[in-house]
Amino acid sequence: MSLSVSRRLAAVTALAVAGLFASAAPAALAAPTAVAAAPTPPDIPLANVKAHLSQLSTIAANNGGNRAHGRAGYKASVDYVKAKLDAAGFTTTLQTFTSSGATGYNLIADWPGGDPNSVLMAGSHLDSVTSGAGINDNGSGSAAVLETALAVSRAGLQPTKHLRFGWWGAEELGLIGSKYYVNNLPAAEKAKISGYLNFDMIGSPNPGYFVYDDDPTIEQTFKNYYAGLGIPTEIETEGDGRSDHAPFKSAGIPVGGLFSGADYTKTAAQAQKWGGTSGQSFDRCYHSSCDNTANINDTALDRNADAVAYAIWNLGAATPVPPGPSFENTTDVTIPDSPAAAVTSPITVSGVTGNAPATTKVDVNIVHTYRGDLVVDLLAPDGTVYNLHNRSGGSADNLVQSYTVNASSEVANGVWKLRVKDSAAQDVGYINSWKITF
Ligand code: TRP
Ligand code: ZN
Ligand code: CA
Repeated sequence: MSLSVSRRLAAVTALAVAGLFASAAPAALAAPTAVAAAPTPPDIPLANVKAHLSQLSTIAANNGGNRAHGRAGYKASVDYVKAKLDAAGFTTTLQTFTSSGATGYNLIADWPGGDPNSVLMAGSHLDSVTSGAGINDNGSGSAAVLETALAVSRAGLQPTKHLRFGWWGAEELGLIGSKYYVNNLPAAEKAKISGYLNFDMIGSPNPGYFVYDDDPTIEQTFKNYYAGLGIPTEIETEGDGRSDHAPFKSAGIPVGGLFSGADYTKTAAQAQKWGGTSGQSFDRCYHSSCDNTANINDTALDRNADAVAYAIWNLGAATPVPPGPSFENTTDVTIPDSPAAAVTSPITVSGVTGNAPATTKVDVNIVHTYRGDLVVDLLAPDGTVYNLHNRSGGSADNLVQSYTVNASSEVANGVWKLRVKDSAAQDVGYINSWKITF
């Protein structure tokens, strides 16, 4: 949900509370339903995120210096994250796969509740390369996603959407774990995922602030967060498709994410706006043994971890936009039998600012003995015709139906008409009522 939608919700709620809608509304204007604004996203404690990084660092140190696929340090990392999630009330699932002759693991954590048909996912790869502990790549994303999940639990969040978090194995071998997850999801389950947010390298020591340029709503959510901090962002271009969002994107799932840079060099212009060192890579320890706990920029990690929570709270709680004002005409209008001219029923709209929305709703209630006779149009104030019904439905009778019309090029105020023409002899009826909602 974008900020503008939040503001709109807040404004509608305030008006409803003040009783302004009720007193100022014409008789036919229904008061909009007040919808609770999304709860405020939490500030994710940097200390908690860093505590996870130090645990991952210890795990690497105790297991041959890395957390790579097929090595003991990877499974120990999974066990660490899983224990935290289990203790916080998540339903966790360990998915195993085989790659390069070794068992790999994806960890999935579902937060109970929310709409099972609308799932918001966030994920990160938990494996490192063999050369080091992988603290920026990708302890950073893994710790931020973990701490956001724990914050969901602390808040007792009851989002509209069902929340699911994922930690992927074998990303460094070619997105193996995330591909396995997506490829093994039944089509019906894929269709339920409304968005996937990816976090891979978000605490780079010489950071940039990059936002994936994929789904516009997700992208805008991250841009809104950074706009709130007054920090400019750039589109992520250091290799589209180089992380775990790629398989989701290929499956047609809306994706987005954040990135603070890998082995590309920070330009002078980037150092100017973000600080840090120009002429040096964003992460000089990328895929090296020095990707340890010292290889983190705390400010970048702090901001990006808060951005993860901001996105989960806003996109997960996305409450449907409440209906705007509606106007109704309940006067019966007889529809004479064919051959006869069309009849119309008018509604005068006033007090609505600007154009009608792209989701203008028209509810039609026509009593008739054969709706296959009828051609029904919505006429905008300037006469533009929007066909709603063209003799479909055959011998069924009454036409009681809701239509969504993209009337965004029409000024809302003025006289709208429902026009009905009977095109076949014998059956007759009348317009019982109709309603337009902006
Ligand atoms: N996924 C890469 C890795 O783990 C890092 C990376 C390079 C990346 N380019 C990217 C991550 C662009 C996200 C977006 O080694
Ligand atoms: Zn990597
Ligand atoms: Ca007829």
